Amino acid sequence: MAYTHEDYKNAVAVIRQQTQLEPRIGLVLGSGLGTLADTLDDRVIIPYENIPGWPQSTVEGHSGRLVIGRLEGHVVVAQQGRAHLYEGYTPQEITFPIRIMHFLGVKTLILTNAAGGLNTNFRVGDLMLLNDHINLVGMTGTNPLIGPNEASIGERFIGMAQSYDRELRQLARQVAAEHDITLHEGVYVCLSGPNFETPAEIRMLRIIGGDAVGMSTAHEVLVARHAGMRVMACSGITNEAISEIDTDLDASHEEVLDAGTMIVPKLTAILKGVLRLYQDA
Ligand code: HPA
Repeated sequence: MAYTHEDYKNAVAVIRQQTQLEPRIGLVLGSGLGTLADTLDDRVIIPYENIPGWPQSTVEGHSGRLVIGRLEGHVVVAQQGRAHLYEGYTPQEITFPIRIMHFLGVKTLILTNAAGGLNTNFRVGDLMLLNDHINLVGMTGTNPLIGPNEASIGERFIGMAQSYDRELRQLARQVAAEHDITLHEGVYVCLSGPNFETPAEIRMLRIIGGDAVGMSTAHEVLVARHAGMRVMACSGITNEAISEIDTDLDASHEEVLDAGTMIVPKLTAILKGVLRLYQDA
Protein backbone atom coordinates (compact mmCIF):
# COMPACT_ATOMS: atom_id res chain seq x y z
CA MET A 1 0.00 0.00 0.00
CA ALA A 2 1.40 3.41 -0.92
CA TYR A 3 0.99 6.11 1.70
CA THR A 4 -0.64 9.40 0.77
CA HIS A 5 0.22 12.91 1.94
CA GLU A 6 -2.88 12.68 4.11
CA ASP A 7 -1.30 9.70 5.94
CA TYR A 8 1.92 11.61 6.54
CA LYS A 9 -0.01 14.70 7.68
CA ASN A 10 -2.11 12.74 10.15
CA ALA A 11 0.91 11.13 11.81
CA VAL A 12 2.83 14.42 11.97
CA ALA A 13 -0.22 16.15 13.49
CA VAL A 14 -0.47 13.59 16.32
CA ILE A 15 3.23 14.01 17.12
CA ARG A 16 3.10 17.82 16.98
CA GLN A 17 0.15 17.81 19.39
CA GLN A 18 2.43 16.25 22.02
CA THR A 19 5.42 18.59 21.82
CA GLN A 20 6.58 21.99 20.61
CA LEU A 21 10.11 20.65 20.11
CA GLU A 22 11.30 20.63 16.51
CA PRO A 23 13.74 17.76 16.00
CA ARG A 24 16.50 18.07 13.42
CA ILE A 25 18.23 14.80 14.33
CA GLY A 26 16.58 11.39 14.04
CA LEU A 27 17.78 8.33 15.92
CA VAL A 28 16.76 4.75 15.19
CA LEU A 29 17.72 2.48 18.06
CA GLY A 30 17.80 -1.21 17.16
CA SER A 31 17.49 -4.53 18.99
CA GLY A 32 18.32 -4.15 22.67
CA LEU A 33 19.83 -0.70 22.00
CA GLY A 34 16.90 1.56 22.88
CA THR A 35 17.93 2.81 26.32
CA LEU A 36 19.66 5.96 25.07
CA ALA A 37 16.22 7.47 24.43
CA ASP A 38 15.45 7.17 28.17
CA THR A 39 18.13 9.78 28.85
CA LEU A 40 16.70 12.59 26.67
CA ASP A 41 15.93 15.83 28.55
CA ASP A 42 12.42 17.35 28.39
CA ARG A 43 11.32 14.12 26.75
CA VAL A 44 7.91 13.31 25.44
CA ILE A 45 7.09 9.65 24.85
CA ILE A 46 4.59 8.61 22.19
CA PRO A 47 3.75 4.90 21.87
CA TYR A 48 3.77 3.82 18.22
CA GLU A 49 0.20 2.59 18.58
CA ASN A 50 -0.93 6.21 19.08
CA ILE A 51 0.50 7.33 15.75
CA PRO A 52 -1.73 6.54 12.75
CA GLY A 53 0.02 4.53 10.04
CA TRP A 54 3.04 3.72 12.22
CA PRO A 55 4.08 0.04 12.15
CA GLN A 56 4.18 -1.67 15.56
CA SER A 57 7.32 -3.56 16.54
CA THR A 58 6.43 -7.09 17.54
CA VAL A 59 9.94 -8.27 18.46
CA GLU A 60 11.36 -8.62 21.96
CA GLY A 61 13.99 -5.95 22.61
CA HIS A 62 12.07 -3.32 20.64
CA SER A 63 9.92 -1.25 22.98
CA GLY A 64 7.86 0.55 20.34
CA ARG A 65 7.96 4.18 21.44
CA LEU A 66 8.87 7.44 19.82
CA VAL A 67 10.79 9.71 22.19
CA ILE A 68 11.36 13.39 21.45
CA GLY A 69 13.67 15.45 23.61
CA ARG A 70 17.06 17.11 23.95
CA LEU A 71 20.45 15.43 23.73
CA GLU A 72 23.85 17.11 23.67
CA GLY A 73 22.47 20.45 22.52
CA HIS A 74 20.21 19.03 19.80
CA VAL A 75 16.51 18.32 19.64
CA VAL A 76 16.21 14.69 18.62
CA VAL A 77 13.44 12.27 17.77
CA ALA A 78 14.32 8.70 18.67
CA GLN A 79 12.69 5.47 17.60
CA GLN A 80 12.96 2.98 20.44
CA GLY A 81 12.63 -0.08 18.29
CA ARG A 82 11.77 -0.47 14.63
CA ALA A 83 9.62 -2.68 12.43
CA HIS A 84 11.20 -5.22 10.08
CA LEU A 85 10.23 -6.87 6.82
CA TYR A 86 10.15 -10.27 8.50
CA GLU A 87 7.29 -9.11 10.73
CA GLY A 88 5.18 -9.04 7.58
CA TYR A 89 5.35 -5.33 6.84
CA THR A 90 5.98 -3.91 3.39
CA PRO A 91 9.14 -1.91 2.62
CA GLN A 92 6.97 1.23 2.58
CA GLU A 93 5.53 0.46 6.02
CA ILE A 94 8.87 -0.14 7.72
CA THR A 95 10.19 3.16 6.35
CA PHE A 96 7.08 5.25 7.08
CA PRO A 97 8.79 6.46 10.30
CA ILE A 98 11.69 7.88 8.27
CA ARG A 99 9.25 9.80 6.07
CA ILE A 100 7.59 11.14 9.20
CA MET A 101 10.96 12.21 10.58
CA HIS A 102 11.51 14.05 7.30
CA PHE A 103 8.20 15.88 7.63
CA LEU A 104 9.04 16.72 11.26
CA GLY A 105 12.15 18.50 9.95
CA VAL A 106 14.87 15.90 10.53
CA LYS A 107 17.96 16.58 8.41
CA THR A 108 20.38 14.05 9.91
CA LEU A 109 19.60 10.42 10.68
CA ILE A 110 21.66 8.18 12.96
CA LEU A 111 20.77 4.50 12.89
CA THR A 112 21.88 1.60 15.03
CA ASN A 113 21.35 -2.11 14.61
CA ALA A 114 22.37 -5.48 15.94
CA ALA A 115 24.38 -7.46 13.42
CA GLY A 116 26.29 -10.66 12.96
CA GLY A 117 30.02 -10.32 12.39
CA LEU A 118 31.18 -11.65 9.01
CA ASN A 119 34.63 -10.12 9.26
CA THR A 120 36.74 -12.57 11.25
CA ASN A 121 38.48 -9.67 13.06
CA PHE A 122 35.18 -8.73 14.72
CA ARG A 123 34.31 -9.96 18.22
CA VAL A 124 30.98 -9.99 20.06
CA GLY A 125 30.43 -6.58 21.63
CA ASP A 126 32.43 -4.70 18.98
CA LEU A 127 31.03 -1.75 17.03
CA MET A 128 31.13 -1.32 13.26
CA LEU A 129 30.51 2.01 11.63
CA LEU A 130 28.83 1.47 8.26
CA ASN A 131 30.78 2.99 5.39
CA ASP A 132 28.68 1.20 2.75
CA HIS A 133 26.04 -1.48 2.39
CA ILE A 134 24.96 -4.31 0.13
CA ASN A 135 21.20 -4.31 0.10
CA LEU A 136 20.50 -7.81 -1.16
CA VAL A 137 16.82 -7.36 -0.36
CA GLY A 138 16.58 -4.08 -2.24
CA MET A 139 18.64 -5.30 -5.19
CA THR A 140 16.17 -8.11 -5.74
CA GLY A 141 13.15 -5.85 -5.86
CA THR A 142 11.99 -5.31 -2.28
CA ASN A 143 12.75 -1.63 -2.11
CA PRO A 144 10.72 1.12 -0.39
CA LEU A 145 11.35 3.54 -3.25
CA ILE A 146 9.56 1.31 -5.76
CA GLY A 147 6.24 2.86 -6.74
CA PRO A 148 5.24 6.38 -7.72
CA ASN A 149 8.04 8.79 -6.85
CA GLU A 150 7.27 11.35 -4.14
CA ALA A 151 8.82 14.17 -6.17
CA SER A 152 8.13 16.70 -3.38
CA ILE A 153 10.54 14.68 -1.21
CA GLY A 154 13.25 13.58 -3.62
CA GLU A 155 14.28 12.46 -7.06
CA ARG A 156 13.28 9.28 -8.87
CA PHE A 157 16.85 8.06 -9.28
CA ILE A 158 19.14 8.68 -6.35
CA GLY A 159 22.90 8.22 -6.05
CA MET A 160 24.10 6.02 -3.22
CA ALA A 161 27.86 6.60 -3.41
CA GLN A 162 27.82 9.14 -0.56
CA SER A 163 25.25 7.49 1.64
CA TYR A 164 27.27 7.18 4.82
CA ASP A 165 28.30 10.73 5.59
CA ARG A 166 32.04 11.33 5.58
CA GLU A 167 32.04 14.07 8.21
CA LEU A 168 29.88 12.09 10.61
CA ARG A 169 32.13 9.05 10.21
CA GLN A 170 35.16 11.20 10.93
CA LEU A 171 33.51 12.52 14.09
CA ALA A 172 32.66 8.96 15.17
CA ARG A 173 36.28 7.88 14.68
CA GLN A 174 37.47 10.86 16.70
CA VAL A 175 35.07 10.13 19.57
CA ALA A 176 35.96 6.42 19.56
CA ALA A 177 39.67 7.27 19.79
CA GLU A 178 39.03 9.70 22.67
CA HIS A 179 37.13 7.02 24.59
CA ASP A 180 39.49 4.19 23.66
CA ILE A 181 36.63 2.31 21.97
CA THR A 182 37.38 -0.08 19.11
CA LEU A 183 35.34 1.11 16.14
CA HIS A 184 35.56 -1.04 13.02
CA GLU A 185 34.37 0.31 9.73
CA GLY A 186 32.83 -1.77 6.97
CA VAL A 187 30.06 -2.99 4.73
CA TYR A 188 26.67 -4.02 6.11
CA VAL A 189 24.71 -6.67 4.24
CA CYS A 190 20.94 -6.37 4.56
CA LEU A 191 18.85 -9.55 4.41
CA SER A 192 15.17 -10.00 5.15
CA GLY A 193 15.43 -12.57 7.96
CA PRO A 194 13.87 -13.84 10.17
CA ASN A 195 16.16 -16.84 10.00
CA PHE A 196 19.85 -16.42 10.64
CA GLU A 197 22.08 -17.48 7.77
CA THR A 198 23.33 -20.89 6.78
CA PRO A 199 27.11 -21.42 6.83
CA ALA A 200 27.14 -21.45 3.01
CA GLU A 201 25.30 -18.12 2.97
CA ILE A 202 27.82 -16.68 5.43
CA ARG A 203 30.72 -17.75 3.22
CA MET A 204 28.96 -16.16 0.24
CA LEU A 205 28.40 -12.88 2.10
CA ARG A 206 32.11 -12.73 2.97
CA ILE A 207 33.07 -13.30 -0.67
CA ILE A 208 30.85 -10.48 -1.89
CA GLY A 209 32.49 -8.07 0.54
CA GLY A 210 30.26 -8.01 3.63
CA ASP A 211 31.67 -7.28 7.07
CA ALA A 212 28.43 -7.49 9.07
CA VAL A 213 24.98 -8.90 8.36
CA GLY A 214 21.58 -7.85 9.64
CA MET A 215 17.90 -7.48 8.90
CA SER A 216 17.34 -3.73 8.87
CA THR A 217 18.83 -0.29 8.21
CA ALA A 218 19.43 -0.34 4.43
CA HIS A 219 15.73 0.32 3.70
CA GLU A 220 15.71 3.28 6.09
CA VAL A 221 18.94 4.62 4.58
CA LEU A 222 17.34 4.54 1.10
CA VAL A 223 14.36 6.59 2.24
CA ALA A 224 16.55 8.98 4.23
CA ARG A 225 18.89 9.55 1.29
CA HIS A 226 15.91 10.04 -1.03
CA ALA A 227 14.85 12.86 1.30
CA GLY A 228 18.38 14.30 1.29
CA MET A 229 19.21 13.49 4.92
CA ARG A 230 22.77 13.02 6.09
CA VAL A 231 23.17 9.51 7.47
CA MET A 232 25.37 7.75 9.98
CA ALA A 233 24.84 4.13 10.99
CA CYS A 234 26.54 1.85 13.47
CA SER A 235 26.19 -1.89 14.03
CA GLY A 236 26.70 -3.60 17.34
CA ILE A 237 28.21 -7.02 16.68
CA THR A 238 26.05 -9.38 18.71
CA ASN A 239 27.34 -12.70 17.37
CA GLU A 240 30.07 -14.06 15.19
CA ALA A 241 28.64 -15.54 12.02
CA ILE A 242 29.03 -19.30 11.75
CA SER A 243 30.63 -20.38 8.49
CA GLU A 244 31.25 -24.08 9.16
CA ILE A 245 28.80 -26.95 9.16
CA ASP A 246 28.99 -29.81 11.66
CA THR A 247 29.80 -27.68 14.72
CA ASP A 248 27.66 -27.37 17.87
CA LEU A 249 27.25 -23.63 17.26
CA ASP A 250 24.12 -21.77 16.20
CA ALA A 251 22.90 -18.17 16.28
CA SER A 252 20.00 -17.12 18.53
CA HIS A 253 17.98 -14.02 19.42
CA GLU A 254 19.02 -14.48 23.09
CA GLU A 255 22.68 -13.96 22.26
CA VAL A 256 21.72 -10.91 20.19
CA LEU A 257 19.90 -9.36 23.17
CA ASP A 258 22.62 -10.39 25.68
CA ALA A 259 25.32 -8.70 23.64
CA GLY A 260 23.22 -5.51 23.66
CA THR A 261 24.18 -4.87 27.27
CA MET A 262 27.88 -4.88 26.25
CA ILE A 263 27.25 -2.68 23.26
CA VAL A 264 24.96 0.00 24.72
CA PRO A 265 27.55 1.87 26.87
CA LYS A 266 30.03 2.10 23.97
CA LEU A 267 27.39 3.03 21.42
CA THR A 268 25.97 5.64 23.80
CA ALA A 269 29.41 7.21 24.22
CA ILE A 270 29.90 7.36 20.45
CA LEU A 271 26.46 8.78 19.63
CA LYS A 272 26.58 11.39 22.38
CA GLY A 273 30.13 12.34 21.46
CA VAL A 274 29.23 12.73 17.78
CA LEU A 275 26.22 14.89 18.62
CA ARG A 276 28.30 17.04 20.97
CA LEU A 277 30.72 17.81 18.13
CA TYR A 278 28.15 18.00 15.33
CA GLN A 279 27.07 21.50 14.37
CA ASP A 280 25.24 21.08 11.08
CA ALA A 281 21.76 20.23 12.23
N1 HPA B 1 22.39 -12.37 11.02
C1 HPA B 1 21.39 -11.53 10.66
N2 HPA B 1 20.92 -10.59 11.46
C2 HPA B 1 21.47 -10.47 12.68
C3 HPA B 1 22.49 -11.31 13.12
C4 HPA B 1 22.98 -12.31 12.23
O1 HPA B 1 23.89 -13.10 12.55
N3 HPA B 1 22.81 -10.93 14.38
C5 HPA B 1 21.99 -9.89 14.69
N4 HPA B 1 21.18 -9.61 13.66
